[in-house]
Amino acid sequence: MSSEKRGMHGIWASRWTFVLAAVGSAVGLGNIWKFPYITGEYGGGAFVLVYLLCIFSVGIPVMMAEVLLGRKARMSPINTMHQLTRTYKAPKFFAGIGWIGAVAGFFILSFYSVIAGWTVYYSLEMMTGYFVGIEAEQAGETFGALLSDPWVLMVFHSIFMILVGAVIARGVHRGLESSLRMLMPALFVMLLILLGYSLTLPGFAQGFDFLFHFEPEKLGTEAILVALGHSFFTLSLGMGAIMAYGAYMPADSPLGKTIVTVGVMDTLVALAAGLVIFPIVFSNGLEPGAGPGLMFQTLPIAFGSLPGGVFIGTIFFVLVLIAAWSSAISLAEPAVAWAVEKGFSRVRATVFVCLLAWVLGLGTVLSFNHWSDKQFFVSVTGSSETSEQVYEDFLLYADVAELKTDLGETGGLQYNVAGKTFFDVLDFLTTNIMLPLGGVLISLFVGWFMTRRAVADEARFRNPQLFRTWRFMIRVVSPLAVLFVFYQGLS
Ligand code: PFF
Repeated sequence: MSSEKRGMHGIWASRWTFVLAAVGSAVGLGNIWKFPYITGEYGGGAFVLVYLLCIFSVGIPVMMAEVLLGRKARMSPINTMHQLTRTYKAPKFFAGIGWIGAVAGFFILSFYSVIAGWTVYYSLEMMTGYFVGIEAEQAGETFGALLSDPWVLMVFHSIFMILVGAVIARGVHRGLESSLRMLMPALFVMLLILLGYSLTLPGFAQGFDFLFHFEPEKLGTEAILVALGHSFFTLSLGMGAIMAYGAYMPADSPLGKTIVTVGVMDTLVALAAGLVIFPIVFSNGLEPGAGPGLMFQTLPIAFGSLPGGVFIGTIFFVLVLIAAWSSAISLAEPAVAWAVEKGFSRVRATVFVCLLAWVLGLGTVLSFNHWSDKQFFVSVTGSSETSEQVYEDFLLYADVAELKTDLGETGGLQYNVAGKTFFDVLDFLTTNIMLPLGGVLISLFVGWFMTRRAVADEARFRNPQLFRTWRFMIRVVSPLAVLFVFYQGLS
């Protein structure tokens, strides 16, 4: 019988179960849906390079710090941070890391479930053969029709949330562990098959070039902010998901090797998803900058013309669904673990957390239809070809349809109106602000407030040089990188 400290929630069966769970959390919509579309929006190779730099110099070191904290206290992130803040006499606001995380988790889960609902819908449509022989235009219309119907979106959002709740309610071993053991290997096999298919496409070289050809002039500050934010999102950092999983990690597992494995696997999946999607985009003469619809509009076209496409297409969307499912579980786990520590049963805690996130998700559902014109942080610019006169305005909130009509009546200038829907705001706030902020606080805590000895004992690096490098990264490099990007983003 090992004498290691155990929390009340249990310990993963082995180091590899932790890897499976952490990869399950990290690999999700962020890799297969979001990474390709933001890469498309920010121009390809230049963005990918910054993203890779962020993953290796900031993301992986912060992930080690986050897991270390969880394993040290073996409680939910909220209680972990309360306890450790006291133990190491850090300023009280560090205890807030757990809370920022829980709130960010709710926000992300709420919109994540809506998007994951699309994959449920697409899995069913694929299965019925609806996409066989479909043209690009029709695929676009199908996606548009889905987004414009709040009731359909709500039904699939609900189905997904129930799937998530069903696993979490059964607990760490019977729920999380046993489902992840089957789902994750299947995901990898399918991705390899799709990669093999994409290699045979005429647009493969162009897709490859788009991902890996570095054009520095395409790189703006906003792209750097997005790349950094996405590196936190894709590795599930800064909100306690990975801390909660760290709390169930066996004490003798080496931190460095284990986390590098997780980070590398996550990155490989994102790149593989890009190498599947972009060749399809280019082979069909489509635009890489299509935004959130990229995966849902382009892949069905390819599957529709591929021999055996119904089968492969169905499996693909089911697997994206699985990837989203295993990530969503980790989004809810910190809040559920906290409620269990407060004395709620696991089932009650799950119902409460999922229900709250479901209600908030309705805002995202409406963002794609009834509320699509109701936007926040709206910038208006006007320009004219004949005169130099340029008009500029910024509104906290506006109905952009009304605004455009009003502006149209003033005439003379060409107006450009750009704002953020409710969904965009949640996405921006969590990915670009809350997660990096949580990540910096975690780094500062481990780097500056925990004793070197305590960190070294918990991290168990065999190589002292590697330990020193990692500690330098979380003490100096990650905080500076995030602060720099925040500063640039706000100025
Ligand atoms: N890492 C997940 C993805 O890439 O889809 C999303 C995510 C899960 C973010 C869990 C944050 C989190 F805590």
